[in-house]
Amino acid sequence: MGRSAYHLRAPSRRFKPVVSLDRPLTEHDAVLFIDRKARRYLKQLRPGQKIIIRGEISSEELYGLPEGSRVKLSSGETFLVLRPTYADLIPHLPRAAQVIYPKDTGPLLIWGDVYPGATVIEGGVGAGAFTIALLRAVGPQGRVISYEVREDFARRARRNVADFLGPAPQWELKIRDLYEGFDEIGVDRLFIDLPEPARALEVVARALRPGGVFVAYVPTAIQLKETVEALQQRSDFAEIESFEVMLRNWQVKGMSVRPFHRMVAHSAFIIVARRLAGSVQPIAQNLRGGTEIAGDK
Ligand SMILES: C[S@@+](CC[C@H](N)C(=O)[O-])C[C@H]1O[C@@H](n2cnc3c(N)ncnc32)[C@H](O)[C@@H]1O
Repeated sequence: MGRSAYHLRAPSRRFKPVVSLDRPLTEHDAVLFIDRKARRYLKQLRPGQKIIIRGEISSEELYGLPEGSRVKLSSGETFLVLRPTYADLIPHLPRAAQVIYPKDTGPLLIWGDVYPGATVIEGGVGAGAFTIALLRAVGPQGRVISYEVREDFARRARRNVADFLGPAPQWELKIRDLYEGFDEIGVDRLFIDLPEPARALEVVARALRPGGVFVAYVPTAIQLKETVEALQQRSDFAEIESFEVMLRNWQVKGMSVRPFHRMVAHSAFIIVARRLAGSVQPIAQNLRGGTEIAGDK
């Protein structure tokens, strides 16, 4: 497994980022085409290329239009065009691994208490869906360090961040098995989205500053039990909280005002804990020395 730290390359020009876009549509923009039945198609405006969805339109015909315009395709069908919001984008994000869905992203950021200027570790990166949310939340003064064991996933995440967020100099992506330990110590917040968070607690405790927030995201009740019990057995974590998030959309149509019949009934459990002051437990043998970010006295 490679040990080098990968820094973000110059953004690809395939898409324009989803933030800071207070301007008319232009080339390379990611654009959602929404039909009369609210079906969504994520497309990119490419010079010389046509958008094809049951009929076609040239990319150039959309240049200069404000978002929220309606356009007619060659078939006569009309579509609403908008740049995707974060919640619009994530279900369409190119991925090989399961992403964290927007219904959980909001609570993760708030219960994980991510703030502008924070230093945050994330492991693993997957498709980079949560990375984009973290980078937006910490802002230009913050720092996000992502650990990912698979080079192919890291490549995809790098591309997604570049395409849909843009340049992110405050992001560092390390190809690494995080169970071997983090380089950083004194970090403010630490998020884990991989199968065995309980196995990572020793290295998490070494990386987090006193008062730092640890958040684990696990799909099964067995993982929830193992993670919470492992936290409970340690003297350096407290304030442990577990919950899940259910989002139920409603139909509002004439007299039919009711929840939709279908919903995503389960995605994952969220576990939050605080790192206490005091020394960590004995250092695992394979742990490497840390790079100090802020005092961990
Ligand atoms: C469910 S995905 C993460 C999805 C991501 N949170 C998102 O929203 O796109 C889990 C990731 O953890 C990575 N992973 C698994 N074990 C790991 C380890 N020991 N160290 C680092 N990354 C690991 C996997 O390769 C995978 O990319």
